[in-house]
Amino acid sequence: MKKKIEELIQKAFKAKENAYTPYSNFKVGAALLTKSGKIYTGCNVENASYGLTCCAERVAIFKAVSEGEREFDTLVVVGDTDEPISPCGACRQVMSEFGDFEVILVSKDRKLKKVKVKDLLPYSFEKENLKK
Ligand code: THU
Repeated sequence: MKKKIEELIQKAFKAKENAYTPYSNFKVGAALLTKSGKIYTGCNVENASYGLTCCAERVAIFKAVSEGEREFDTLVVVGDTDEPISPCGACRQVMSEFGDFEVILVSKDRKLKKVKVKDLLPYSFEKENLKK
């Protein structure tokens, strides 16, 4: 398992290189391990209409979901930050849609912070609320 985490971190750093960030120049990478054992990566993709920017975490999650995956084991997020990067609120809500999996936040010099989705977004709005 330790080896898998190392692989996820490496893949997230590699994905970060593809970040399209002409506006912020802040590059983020993500790597998502599914329960089926596959890895989907993501980077942030910005837009001249700033609000259309999609974060690395959501790109990785949407890539996985679009391939039929819905059960996630671990999401690694890496950023050029001094302390482990902290995902935005929108990404936390998107993560919480798919359960309480492990999230490993990583700084530029590989400081790690391991949390669960529920730690990042307690008391989230859940799909169960929509069921009658
Ligand atoms: N960003 C991410 O991709 N993930 C995060 O966890 C934080 C923010 C991106 C969005 C935008 O392209 C840039 O970082 C600056 O906010």
